[in-house]
Amino acid sequence: MMQTVLSLETSCDETAVAVVRRDGEKFQVLANFIASQAEEHAQWGGVVPEIASRRHLESMPLLLEKAIEKSGINFSDLDAVASTVTPGLTGALLVGSITARTLACLHNVPFLAIHHLEGHLSSVLLSDNCPKQPYLVLLVSGGHTELVKVDKGMSFQRLGRSHDDAAGEAFDKVARLLGLSYPGGPAIQAIGKLGNPLRFTFPRGRVSKPSGGYYPYDFSFSGLKTSVMRKVDSINKSSKKLPVNDLAASFELAVADVLVERSLKCAIDHDLSSLVIVGGVAANSRLRELMQKKASENLVNICFAPKKFCTDNAAMIGAAALSRLKNGNIFSSIDLGVSGRFPLDQAKLLYGQDIPF
Ligand code: KG4
Ligand code: ZN
Repeated sequence: MMQTVLSLETSCDETAVAVVRRDGEKFQVLANFIASQAEEHAQWGGVVPEIASRRHLESMPLLLEKAIEKSGINFSDLDAVASTVTPGLTGALLVGSITARTLACLHNVPFLAIHHLEGHLSSVLLSDNCPKQPYLVLLVSGGHTELVKVDKGMSFQRLGRSHDDAAGEAFDKVARLLGLSYPGGPAIQAIGKLGNPLRFTFPRGRVSKPSGGYYPYDFSFSGLKTSVMRKVDSINKSSKKLPVNDLAASFELAVADVLVERSLKCAIDHDLSSLVIVGGVAANSRLRELMQKKASENLVNICFAPKKFCTDNAAMIGAAALSRLKNGNIFSSIDLGVSGRFPLDQAKLLYGQDIPF
């Protein structure tokens, strides 16, 4: 059966609209447009929520027009209009969610609310070599670092998480320390390519159990950030020139190392032969190279989400919506609002009549 959705994503600083189709097991992105506000937020060193909401409002009409035109669909062809409703900046989420609900009402098609993390998890469905479920997903974005087991029928089980900063957040904070622009990930990657990753040894943070030992699949990045800060301070005090390239490369390697080590251990311990990597940080080439190498040594099959669907986009929201539709003829209440936070393992509540928010 073929199904088509129009999907909207406005949870942070990218306004995104896509049209995605599923024909059997095959997903096809008919249109995918993104208006990034990153440059405007860069001058503030991070996302300013009020500015984000305003820009979403301004960009949305043109993106919708372009997506409908490019895809060649009519509203009558749609099986649902989907939008991210949680987690994220509430003012920003409202723009996408109200637009989607309005379009759904106007054109008499179902509205489907999507959890942003389910969107990231579903981005791998847009890859040509997506493994069969069950598999383990390493989700590494600006707000989350999690290891999630994905079973058939969109059931998720979190097996690991960061206890402090997310990996992407660490990239953004360290970039700031090194005087680089926001978002930090691409900036660190660009100059890290020119540096020596073995020049500085930064800590590979672990999370202690109160009963002794460590949580084997959990992450901590705040100590790493502090360690880079101390190094930068001491070099600055000595009036030597800051070796920004080497610092960036060494930091990047420390992050990649822990992500690779813990996710492979988690996959192997749980007898999962496939590991999927999604989210903004999954675009990182040092992580990709190291993961590829260590996974093949350990006979774990890996699959990265396509690079253009790693950072926030609406095609992944469409893929999540199509998977939900495949698993049942469901829809969300038009009265469902948005929420800054909501656990992923409760995502099925977004499709009930008792609305959670
Ligand atoms: O998934 P995403 O677009 O948004 C969230 O849902 O958070 O992730 C954004 C994060 C930012 O922290 C950004 O610095 C990081 O992903 N990022 C990268 C790269 N591209 C984006 N980190 C490392 N290397 C990259 N190439
Ligand atoms: Zn995201």
